[in-house]
Amino acid sequence: MSYDIEMKKRNLVVANWKMNPESLEEAKKIFNAIRNSAKGLKNADVIVCPPFTYLQPFSKLDFPKNVFLGAQNVFGETKGAFTGEISAGMVKNLGANFSIVGHSERRAMGETNEIVRKKVQIAFNTNLMPILCIGEKERDKDGNHLEFIKNQIKECLTGLSKKDLVGIHIAYEPIWAIGKSYKEAMSPTDIHETVLFIKKSFGELFGRDTADSLRILYGGSVEAENASEIVRLGNIDGFLVGHASLVPSQFSAILKAADIKK
Ligand code: PGA
Repeated sequence: MSYDIEMKKRNLVVANWKMNPESLEEAKKIFNAIRNSAKGLKNADVIVCPPFTYLQPFSKLDFPKNVFLGAQNVFGETKGAFTGEISAGMVKNLGANFSIVGHSERRAMGETNEIVRKKVQIAFNTNLMPILCIGEKERDKDGNHLEFIKNQIKECLTGLSKKDLVGIHIAYEPIWAIGKSYKEAMSPTDIHETVLFIKKSFGELFGRDTADSLRILYGGSVEAENASEIVRLGNIDGFLVGHASLVPSQFSAILKAADIKK
């Protein structure tokens, strides 16, 4: 089970379970349901990011070719006296190929762009594909949120080699839209515009050729009800899904919506 370059041509849907569910039994039930829905997909890949404690038992299960394991976070050092932390190497050894990095809920606990940059670098060094989360707390008429987003991209990625930059996935998650209902998610047209802005900024910072390979996911209250419209109009390469990824019927509908030829 390894990351395959062909994945770049398909939509990617990341299930971010956050600190849920409480038991392994429940986790396996949800995972099995996701696995069954994923089996029928032709044009989409799925990354399941459970809490760390479920990575090892999950890695022993059967995986269809388009389902992968990911971590929700890794620490910004490779080893040592860091009580309670988990390294990129540890999760890689448990069968994860991806890691979410810099999620807004981690940033709210004190993670700075500088810390996130270290995590991105360590993930790459460990052969763990990072999914870098960015997004503004609020929007304003003057467009200050756009500068905020550009600065996040700059500070989280400056210093990375071109080779690594080419492999980066960015999850754009406006914080004001996270954990709500589809009615309060960002509109597909606003997503489209912001994705263009992210690509343009990335190109200005790191070169046009690098920007061409950039993959951008949208996250923030993606549910069965709004997924198709965002896929059609949002100019995205997939989703980062929180609460709806724990509800198999919801997640299955989101996967179907993402299963379109690009
Ligand atoms: P949500 O979470 O889908 O529950 O809004 C998304 C995220 O925080 O990754």
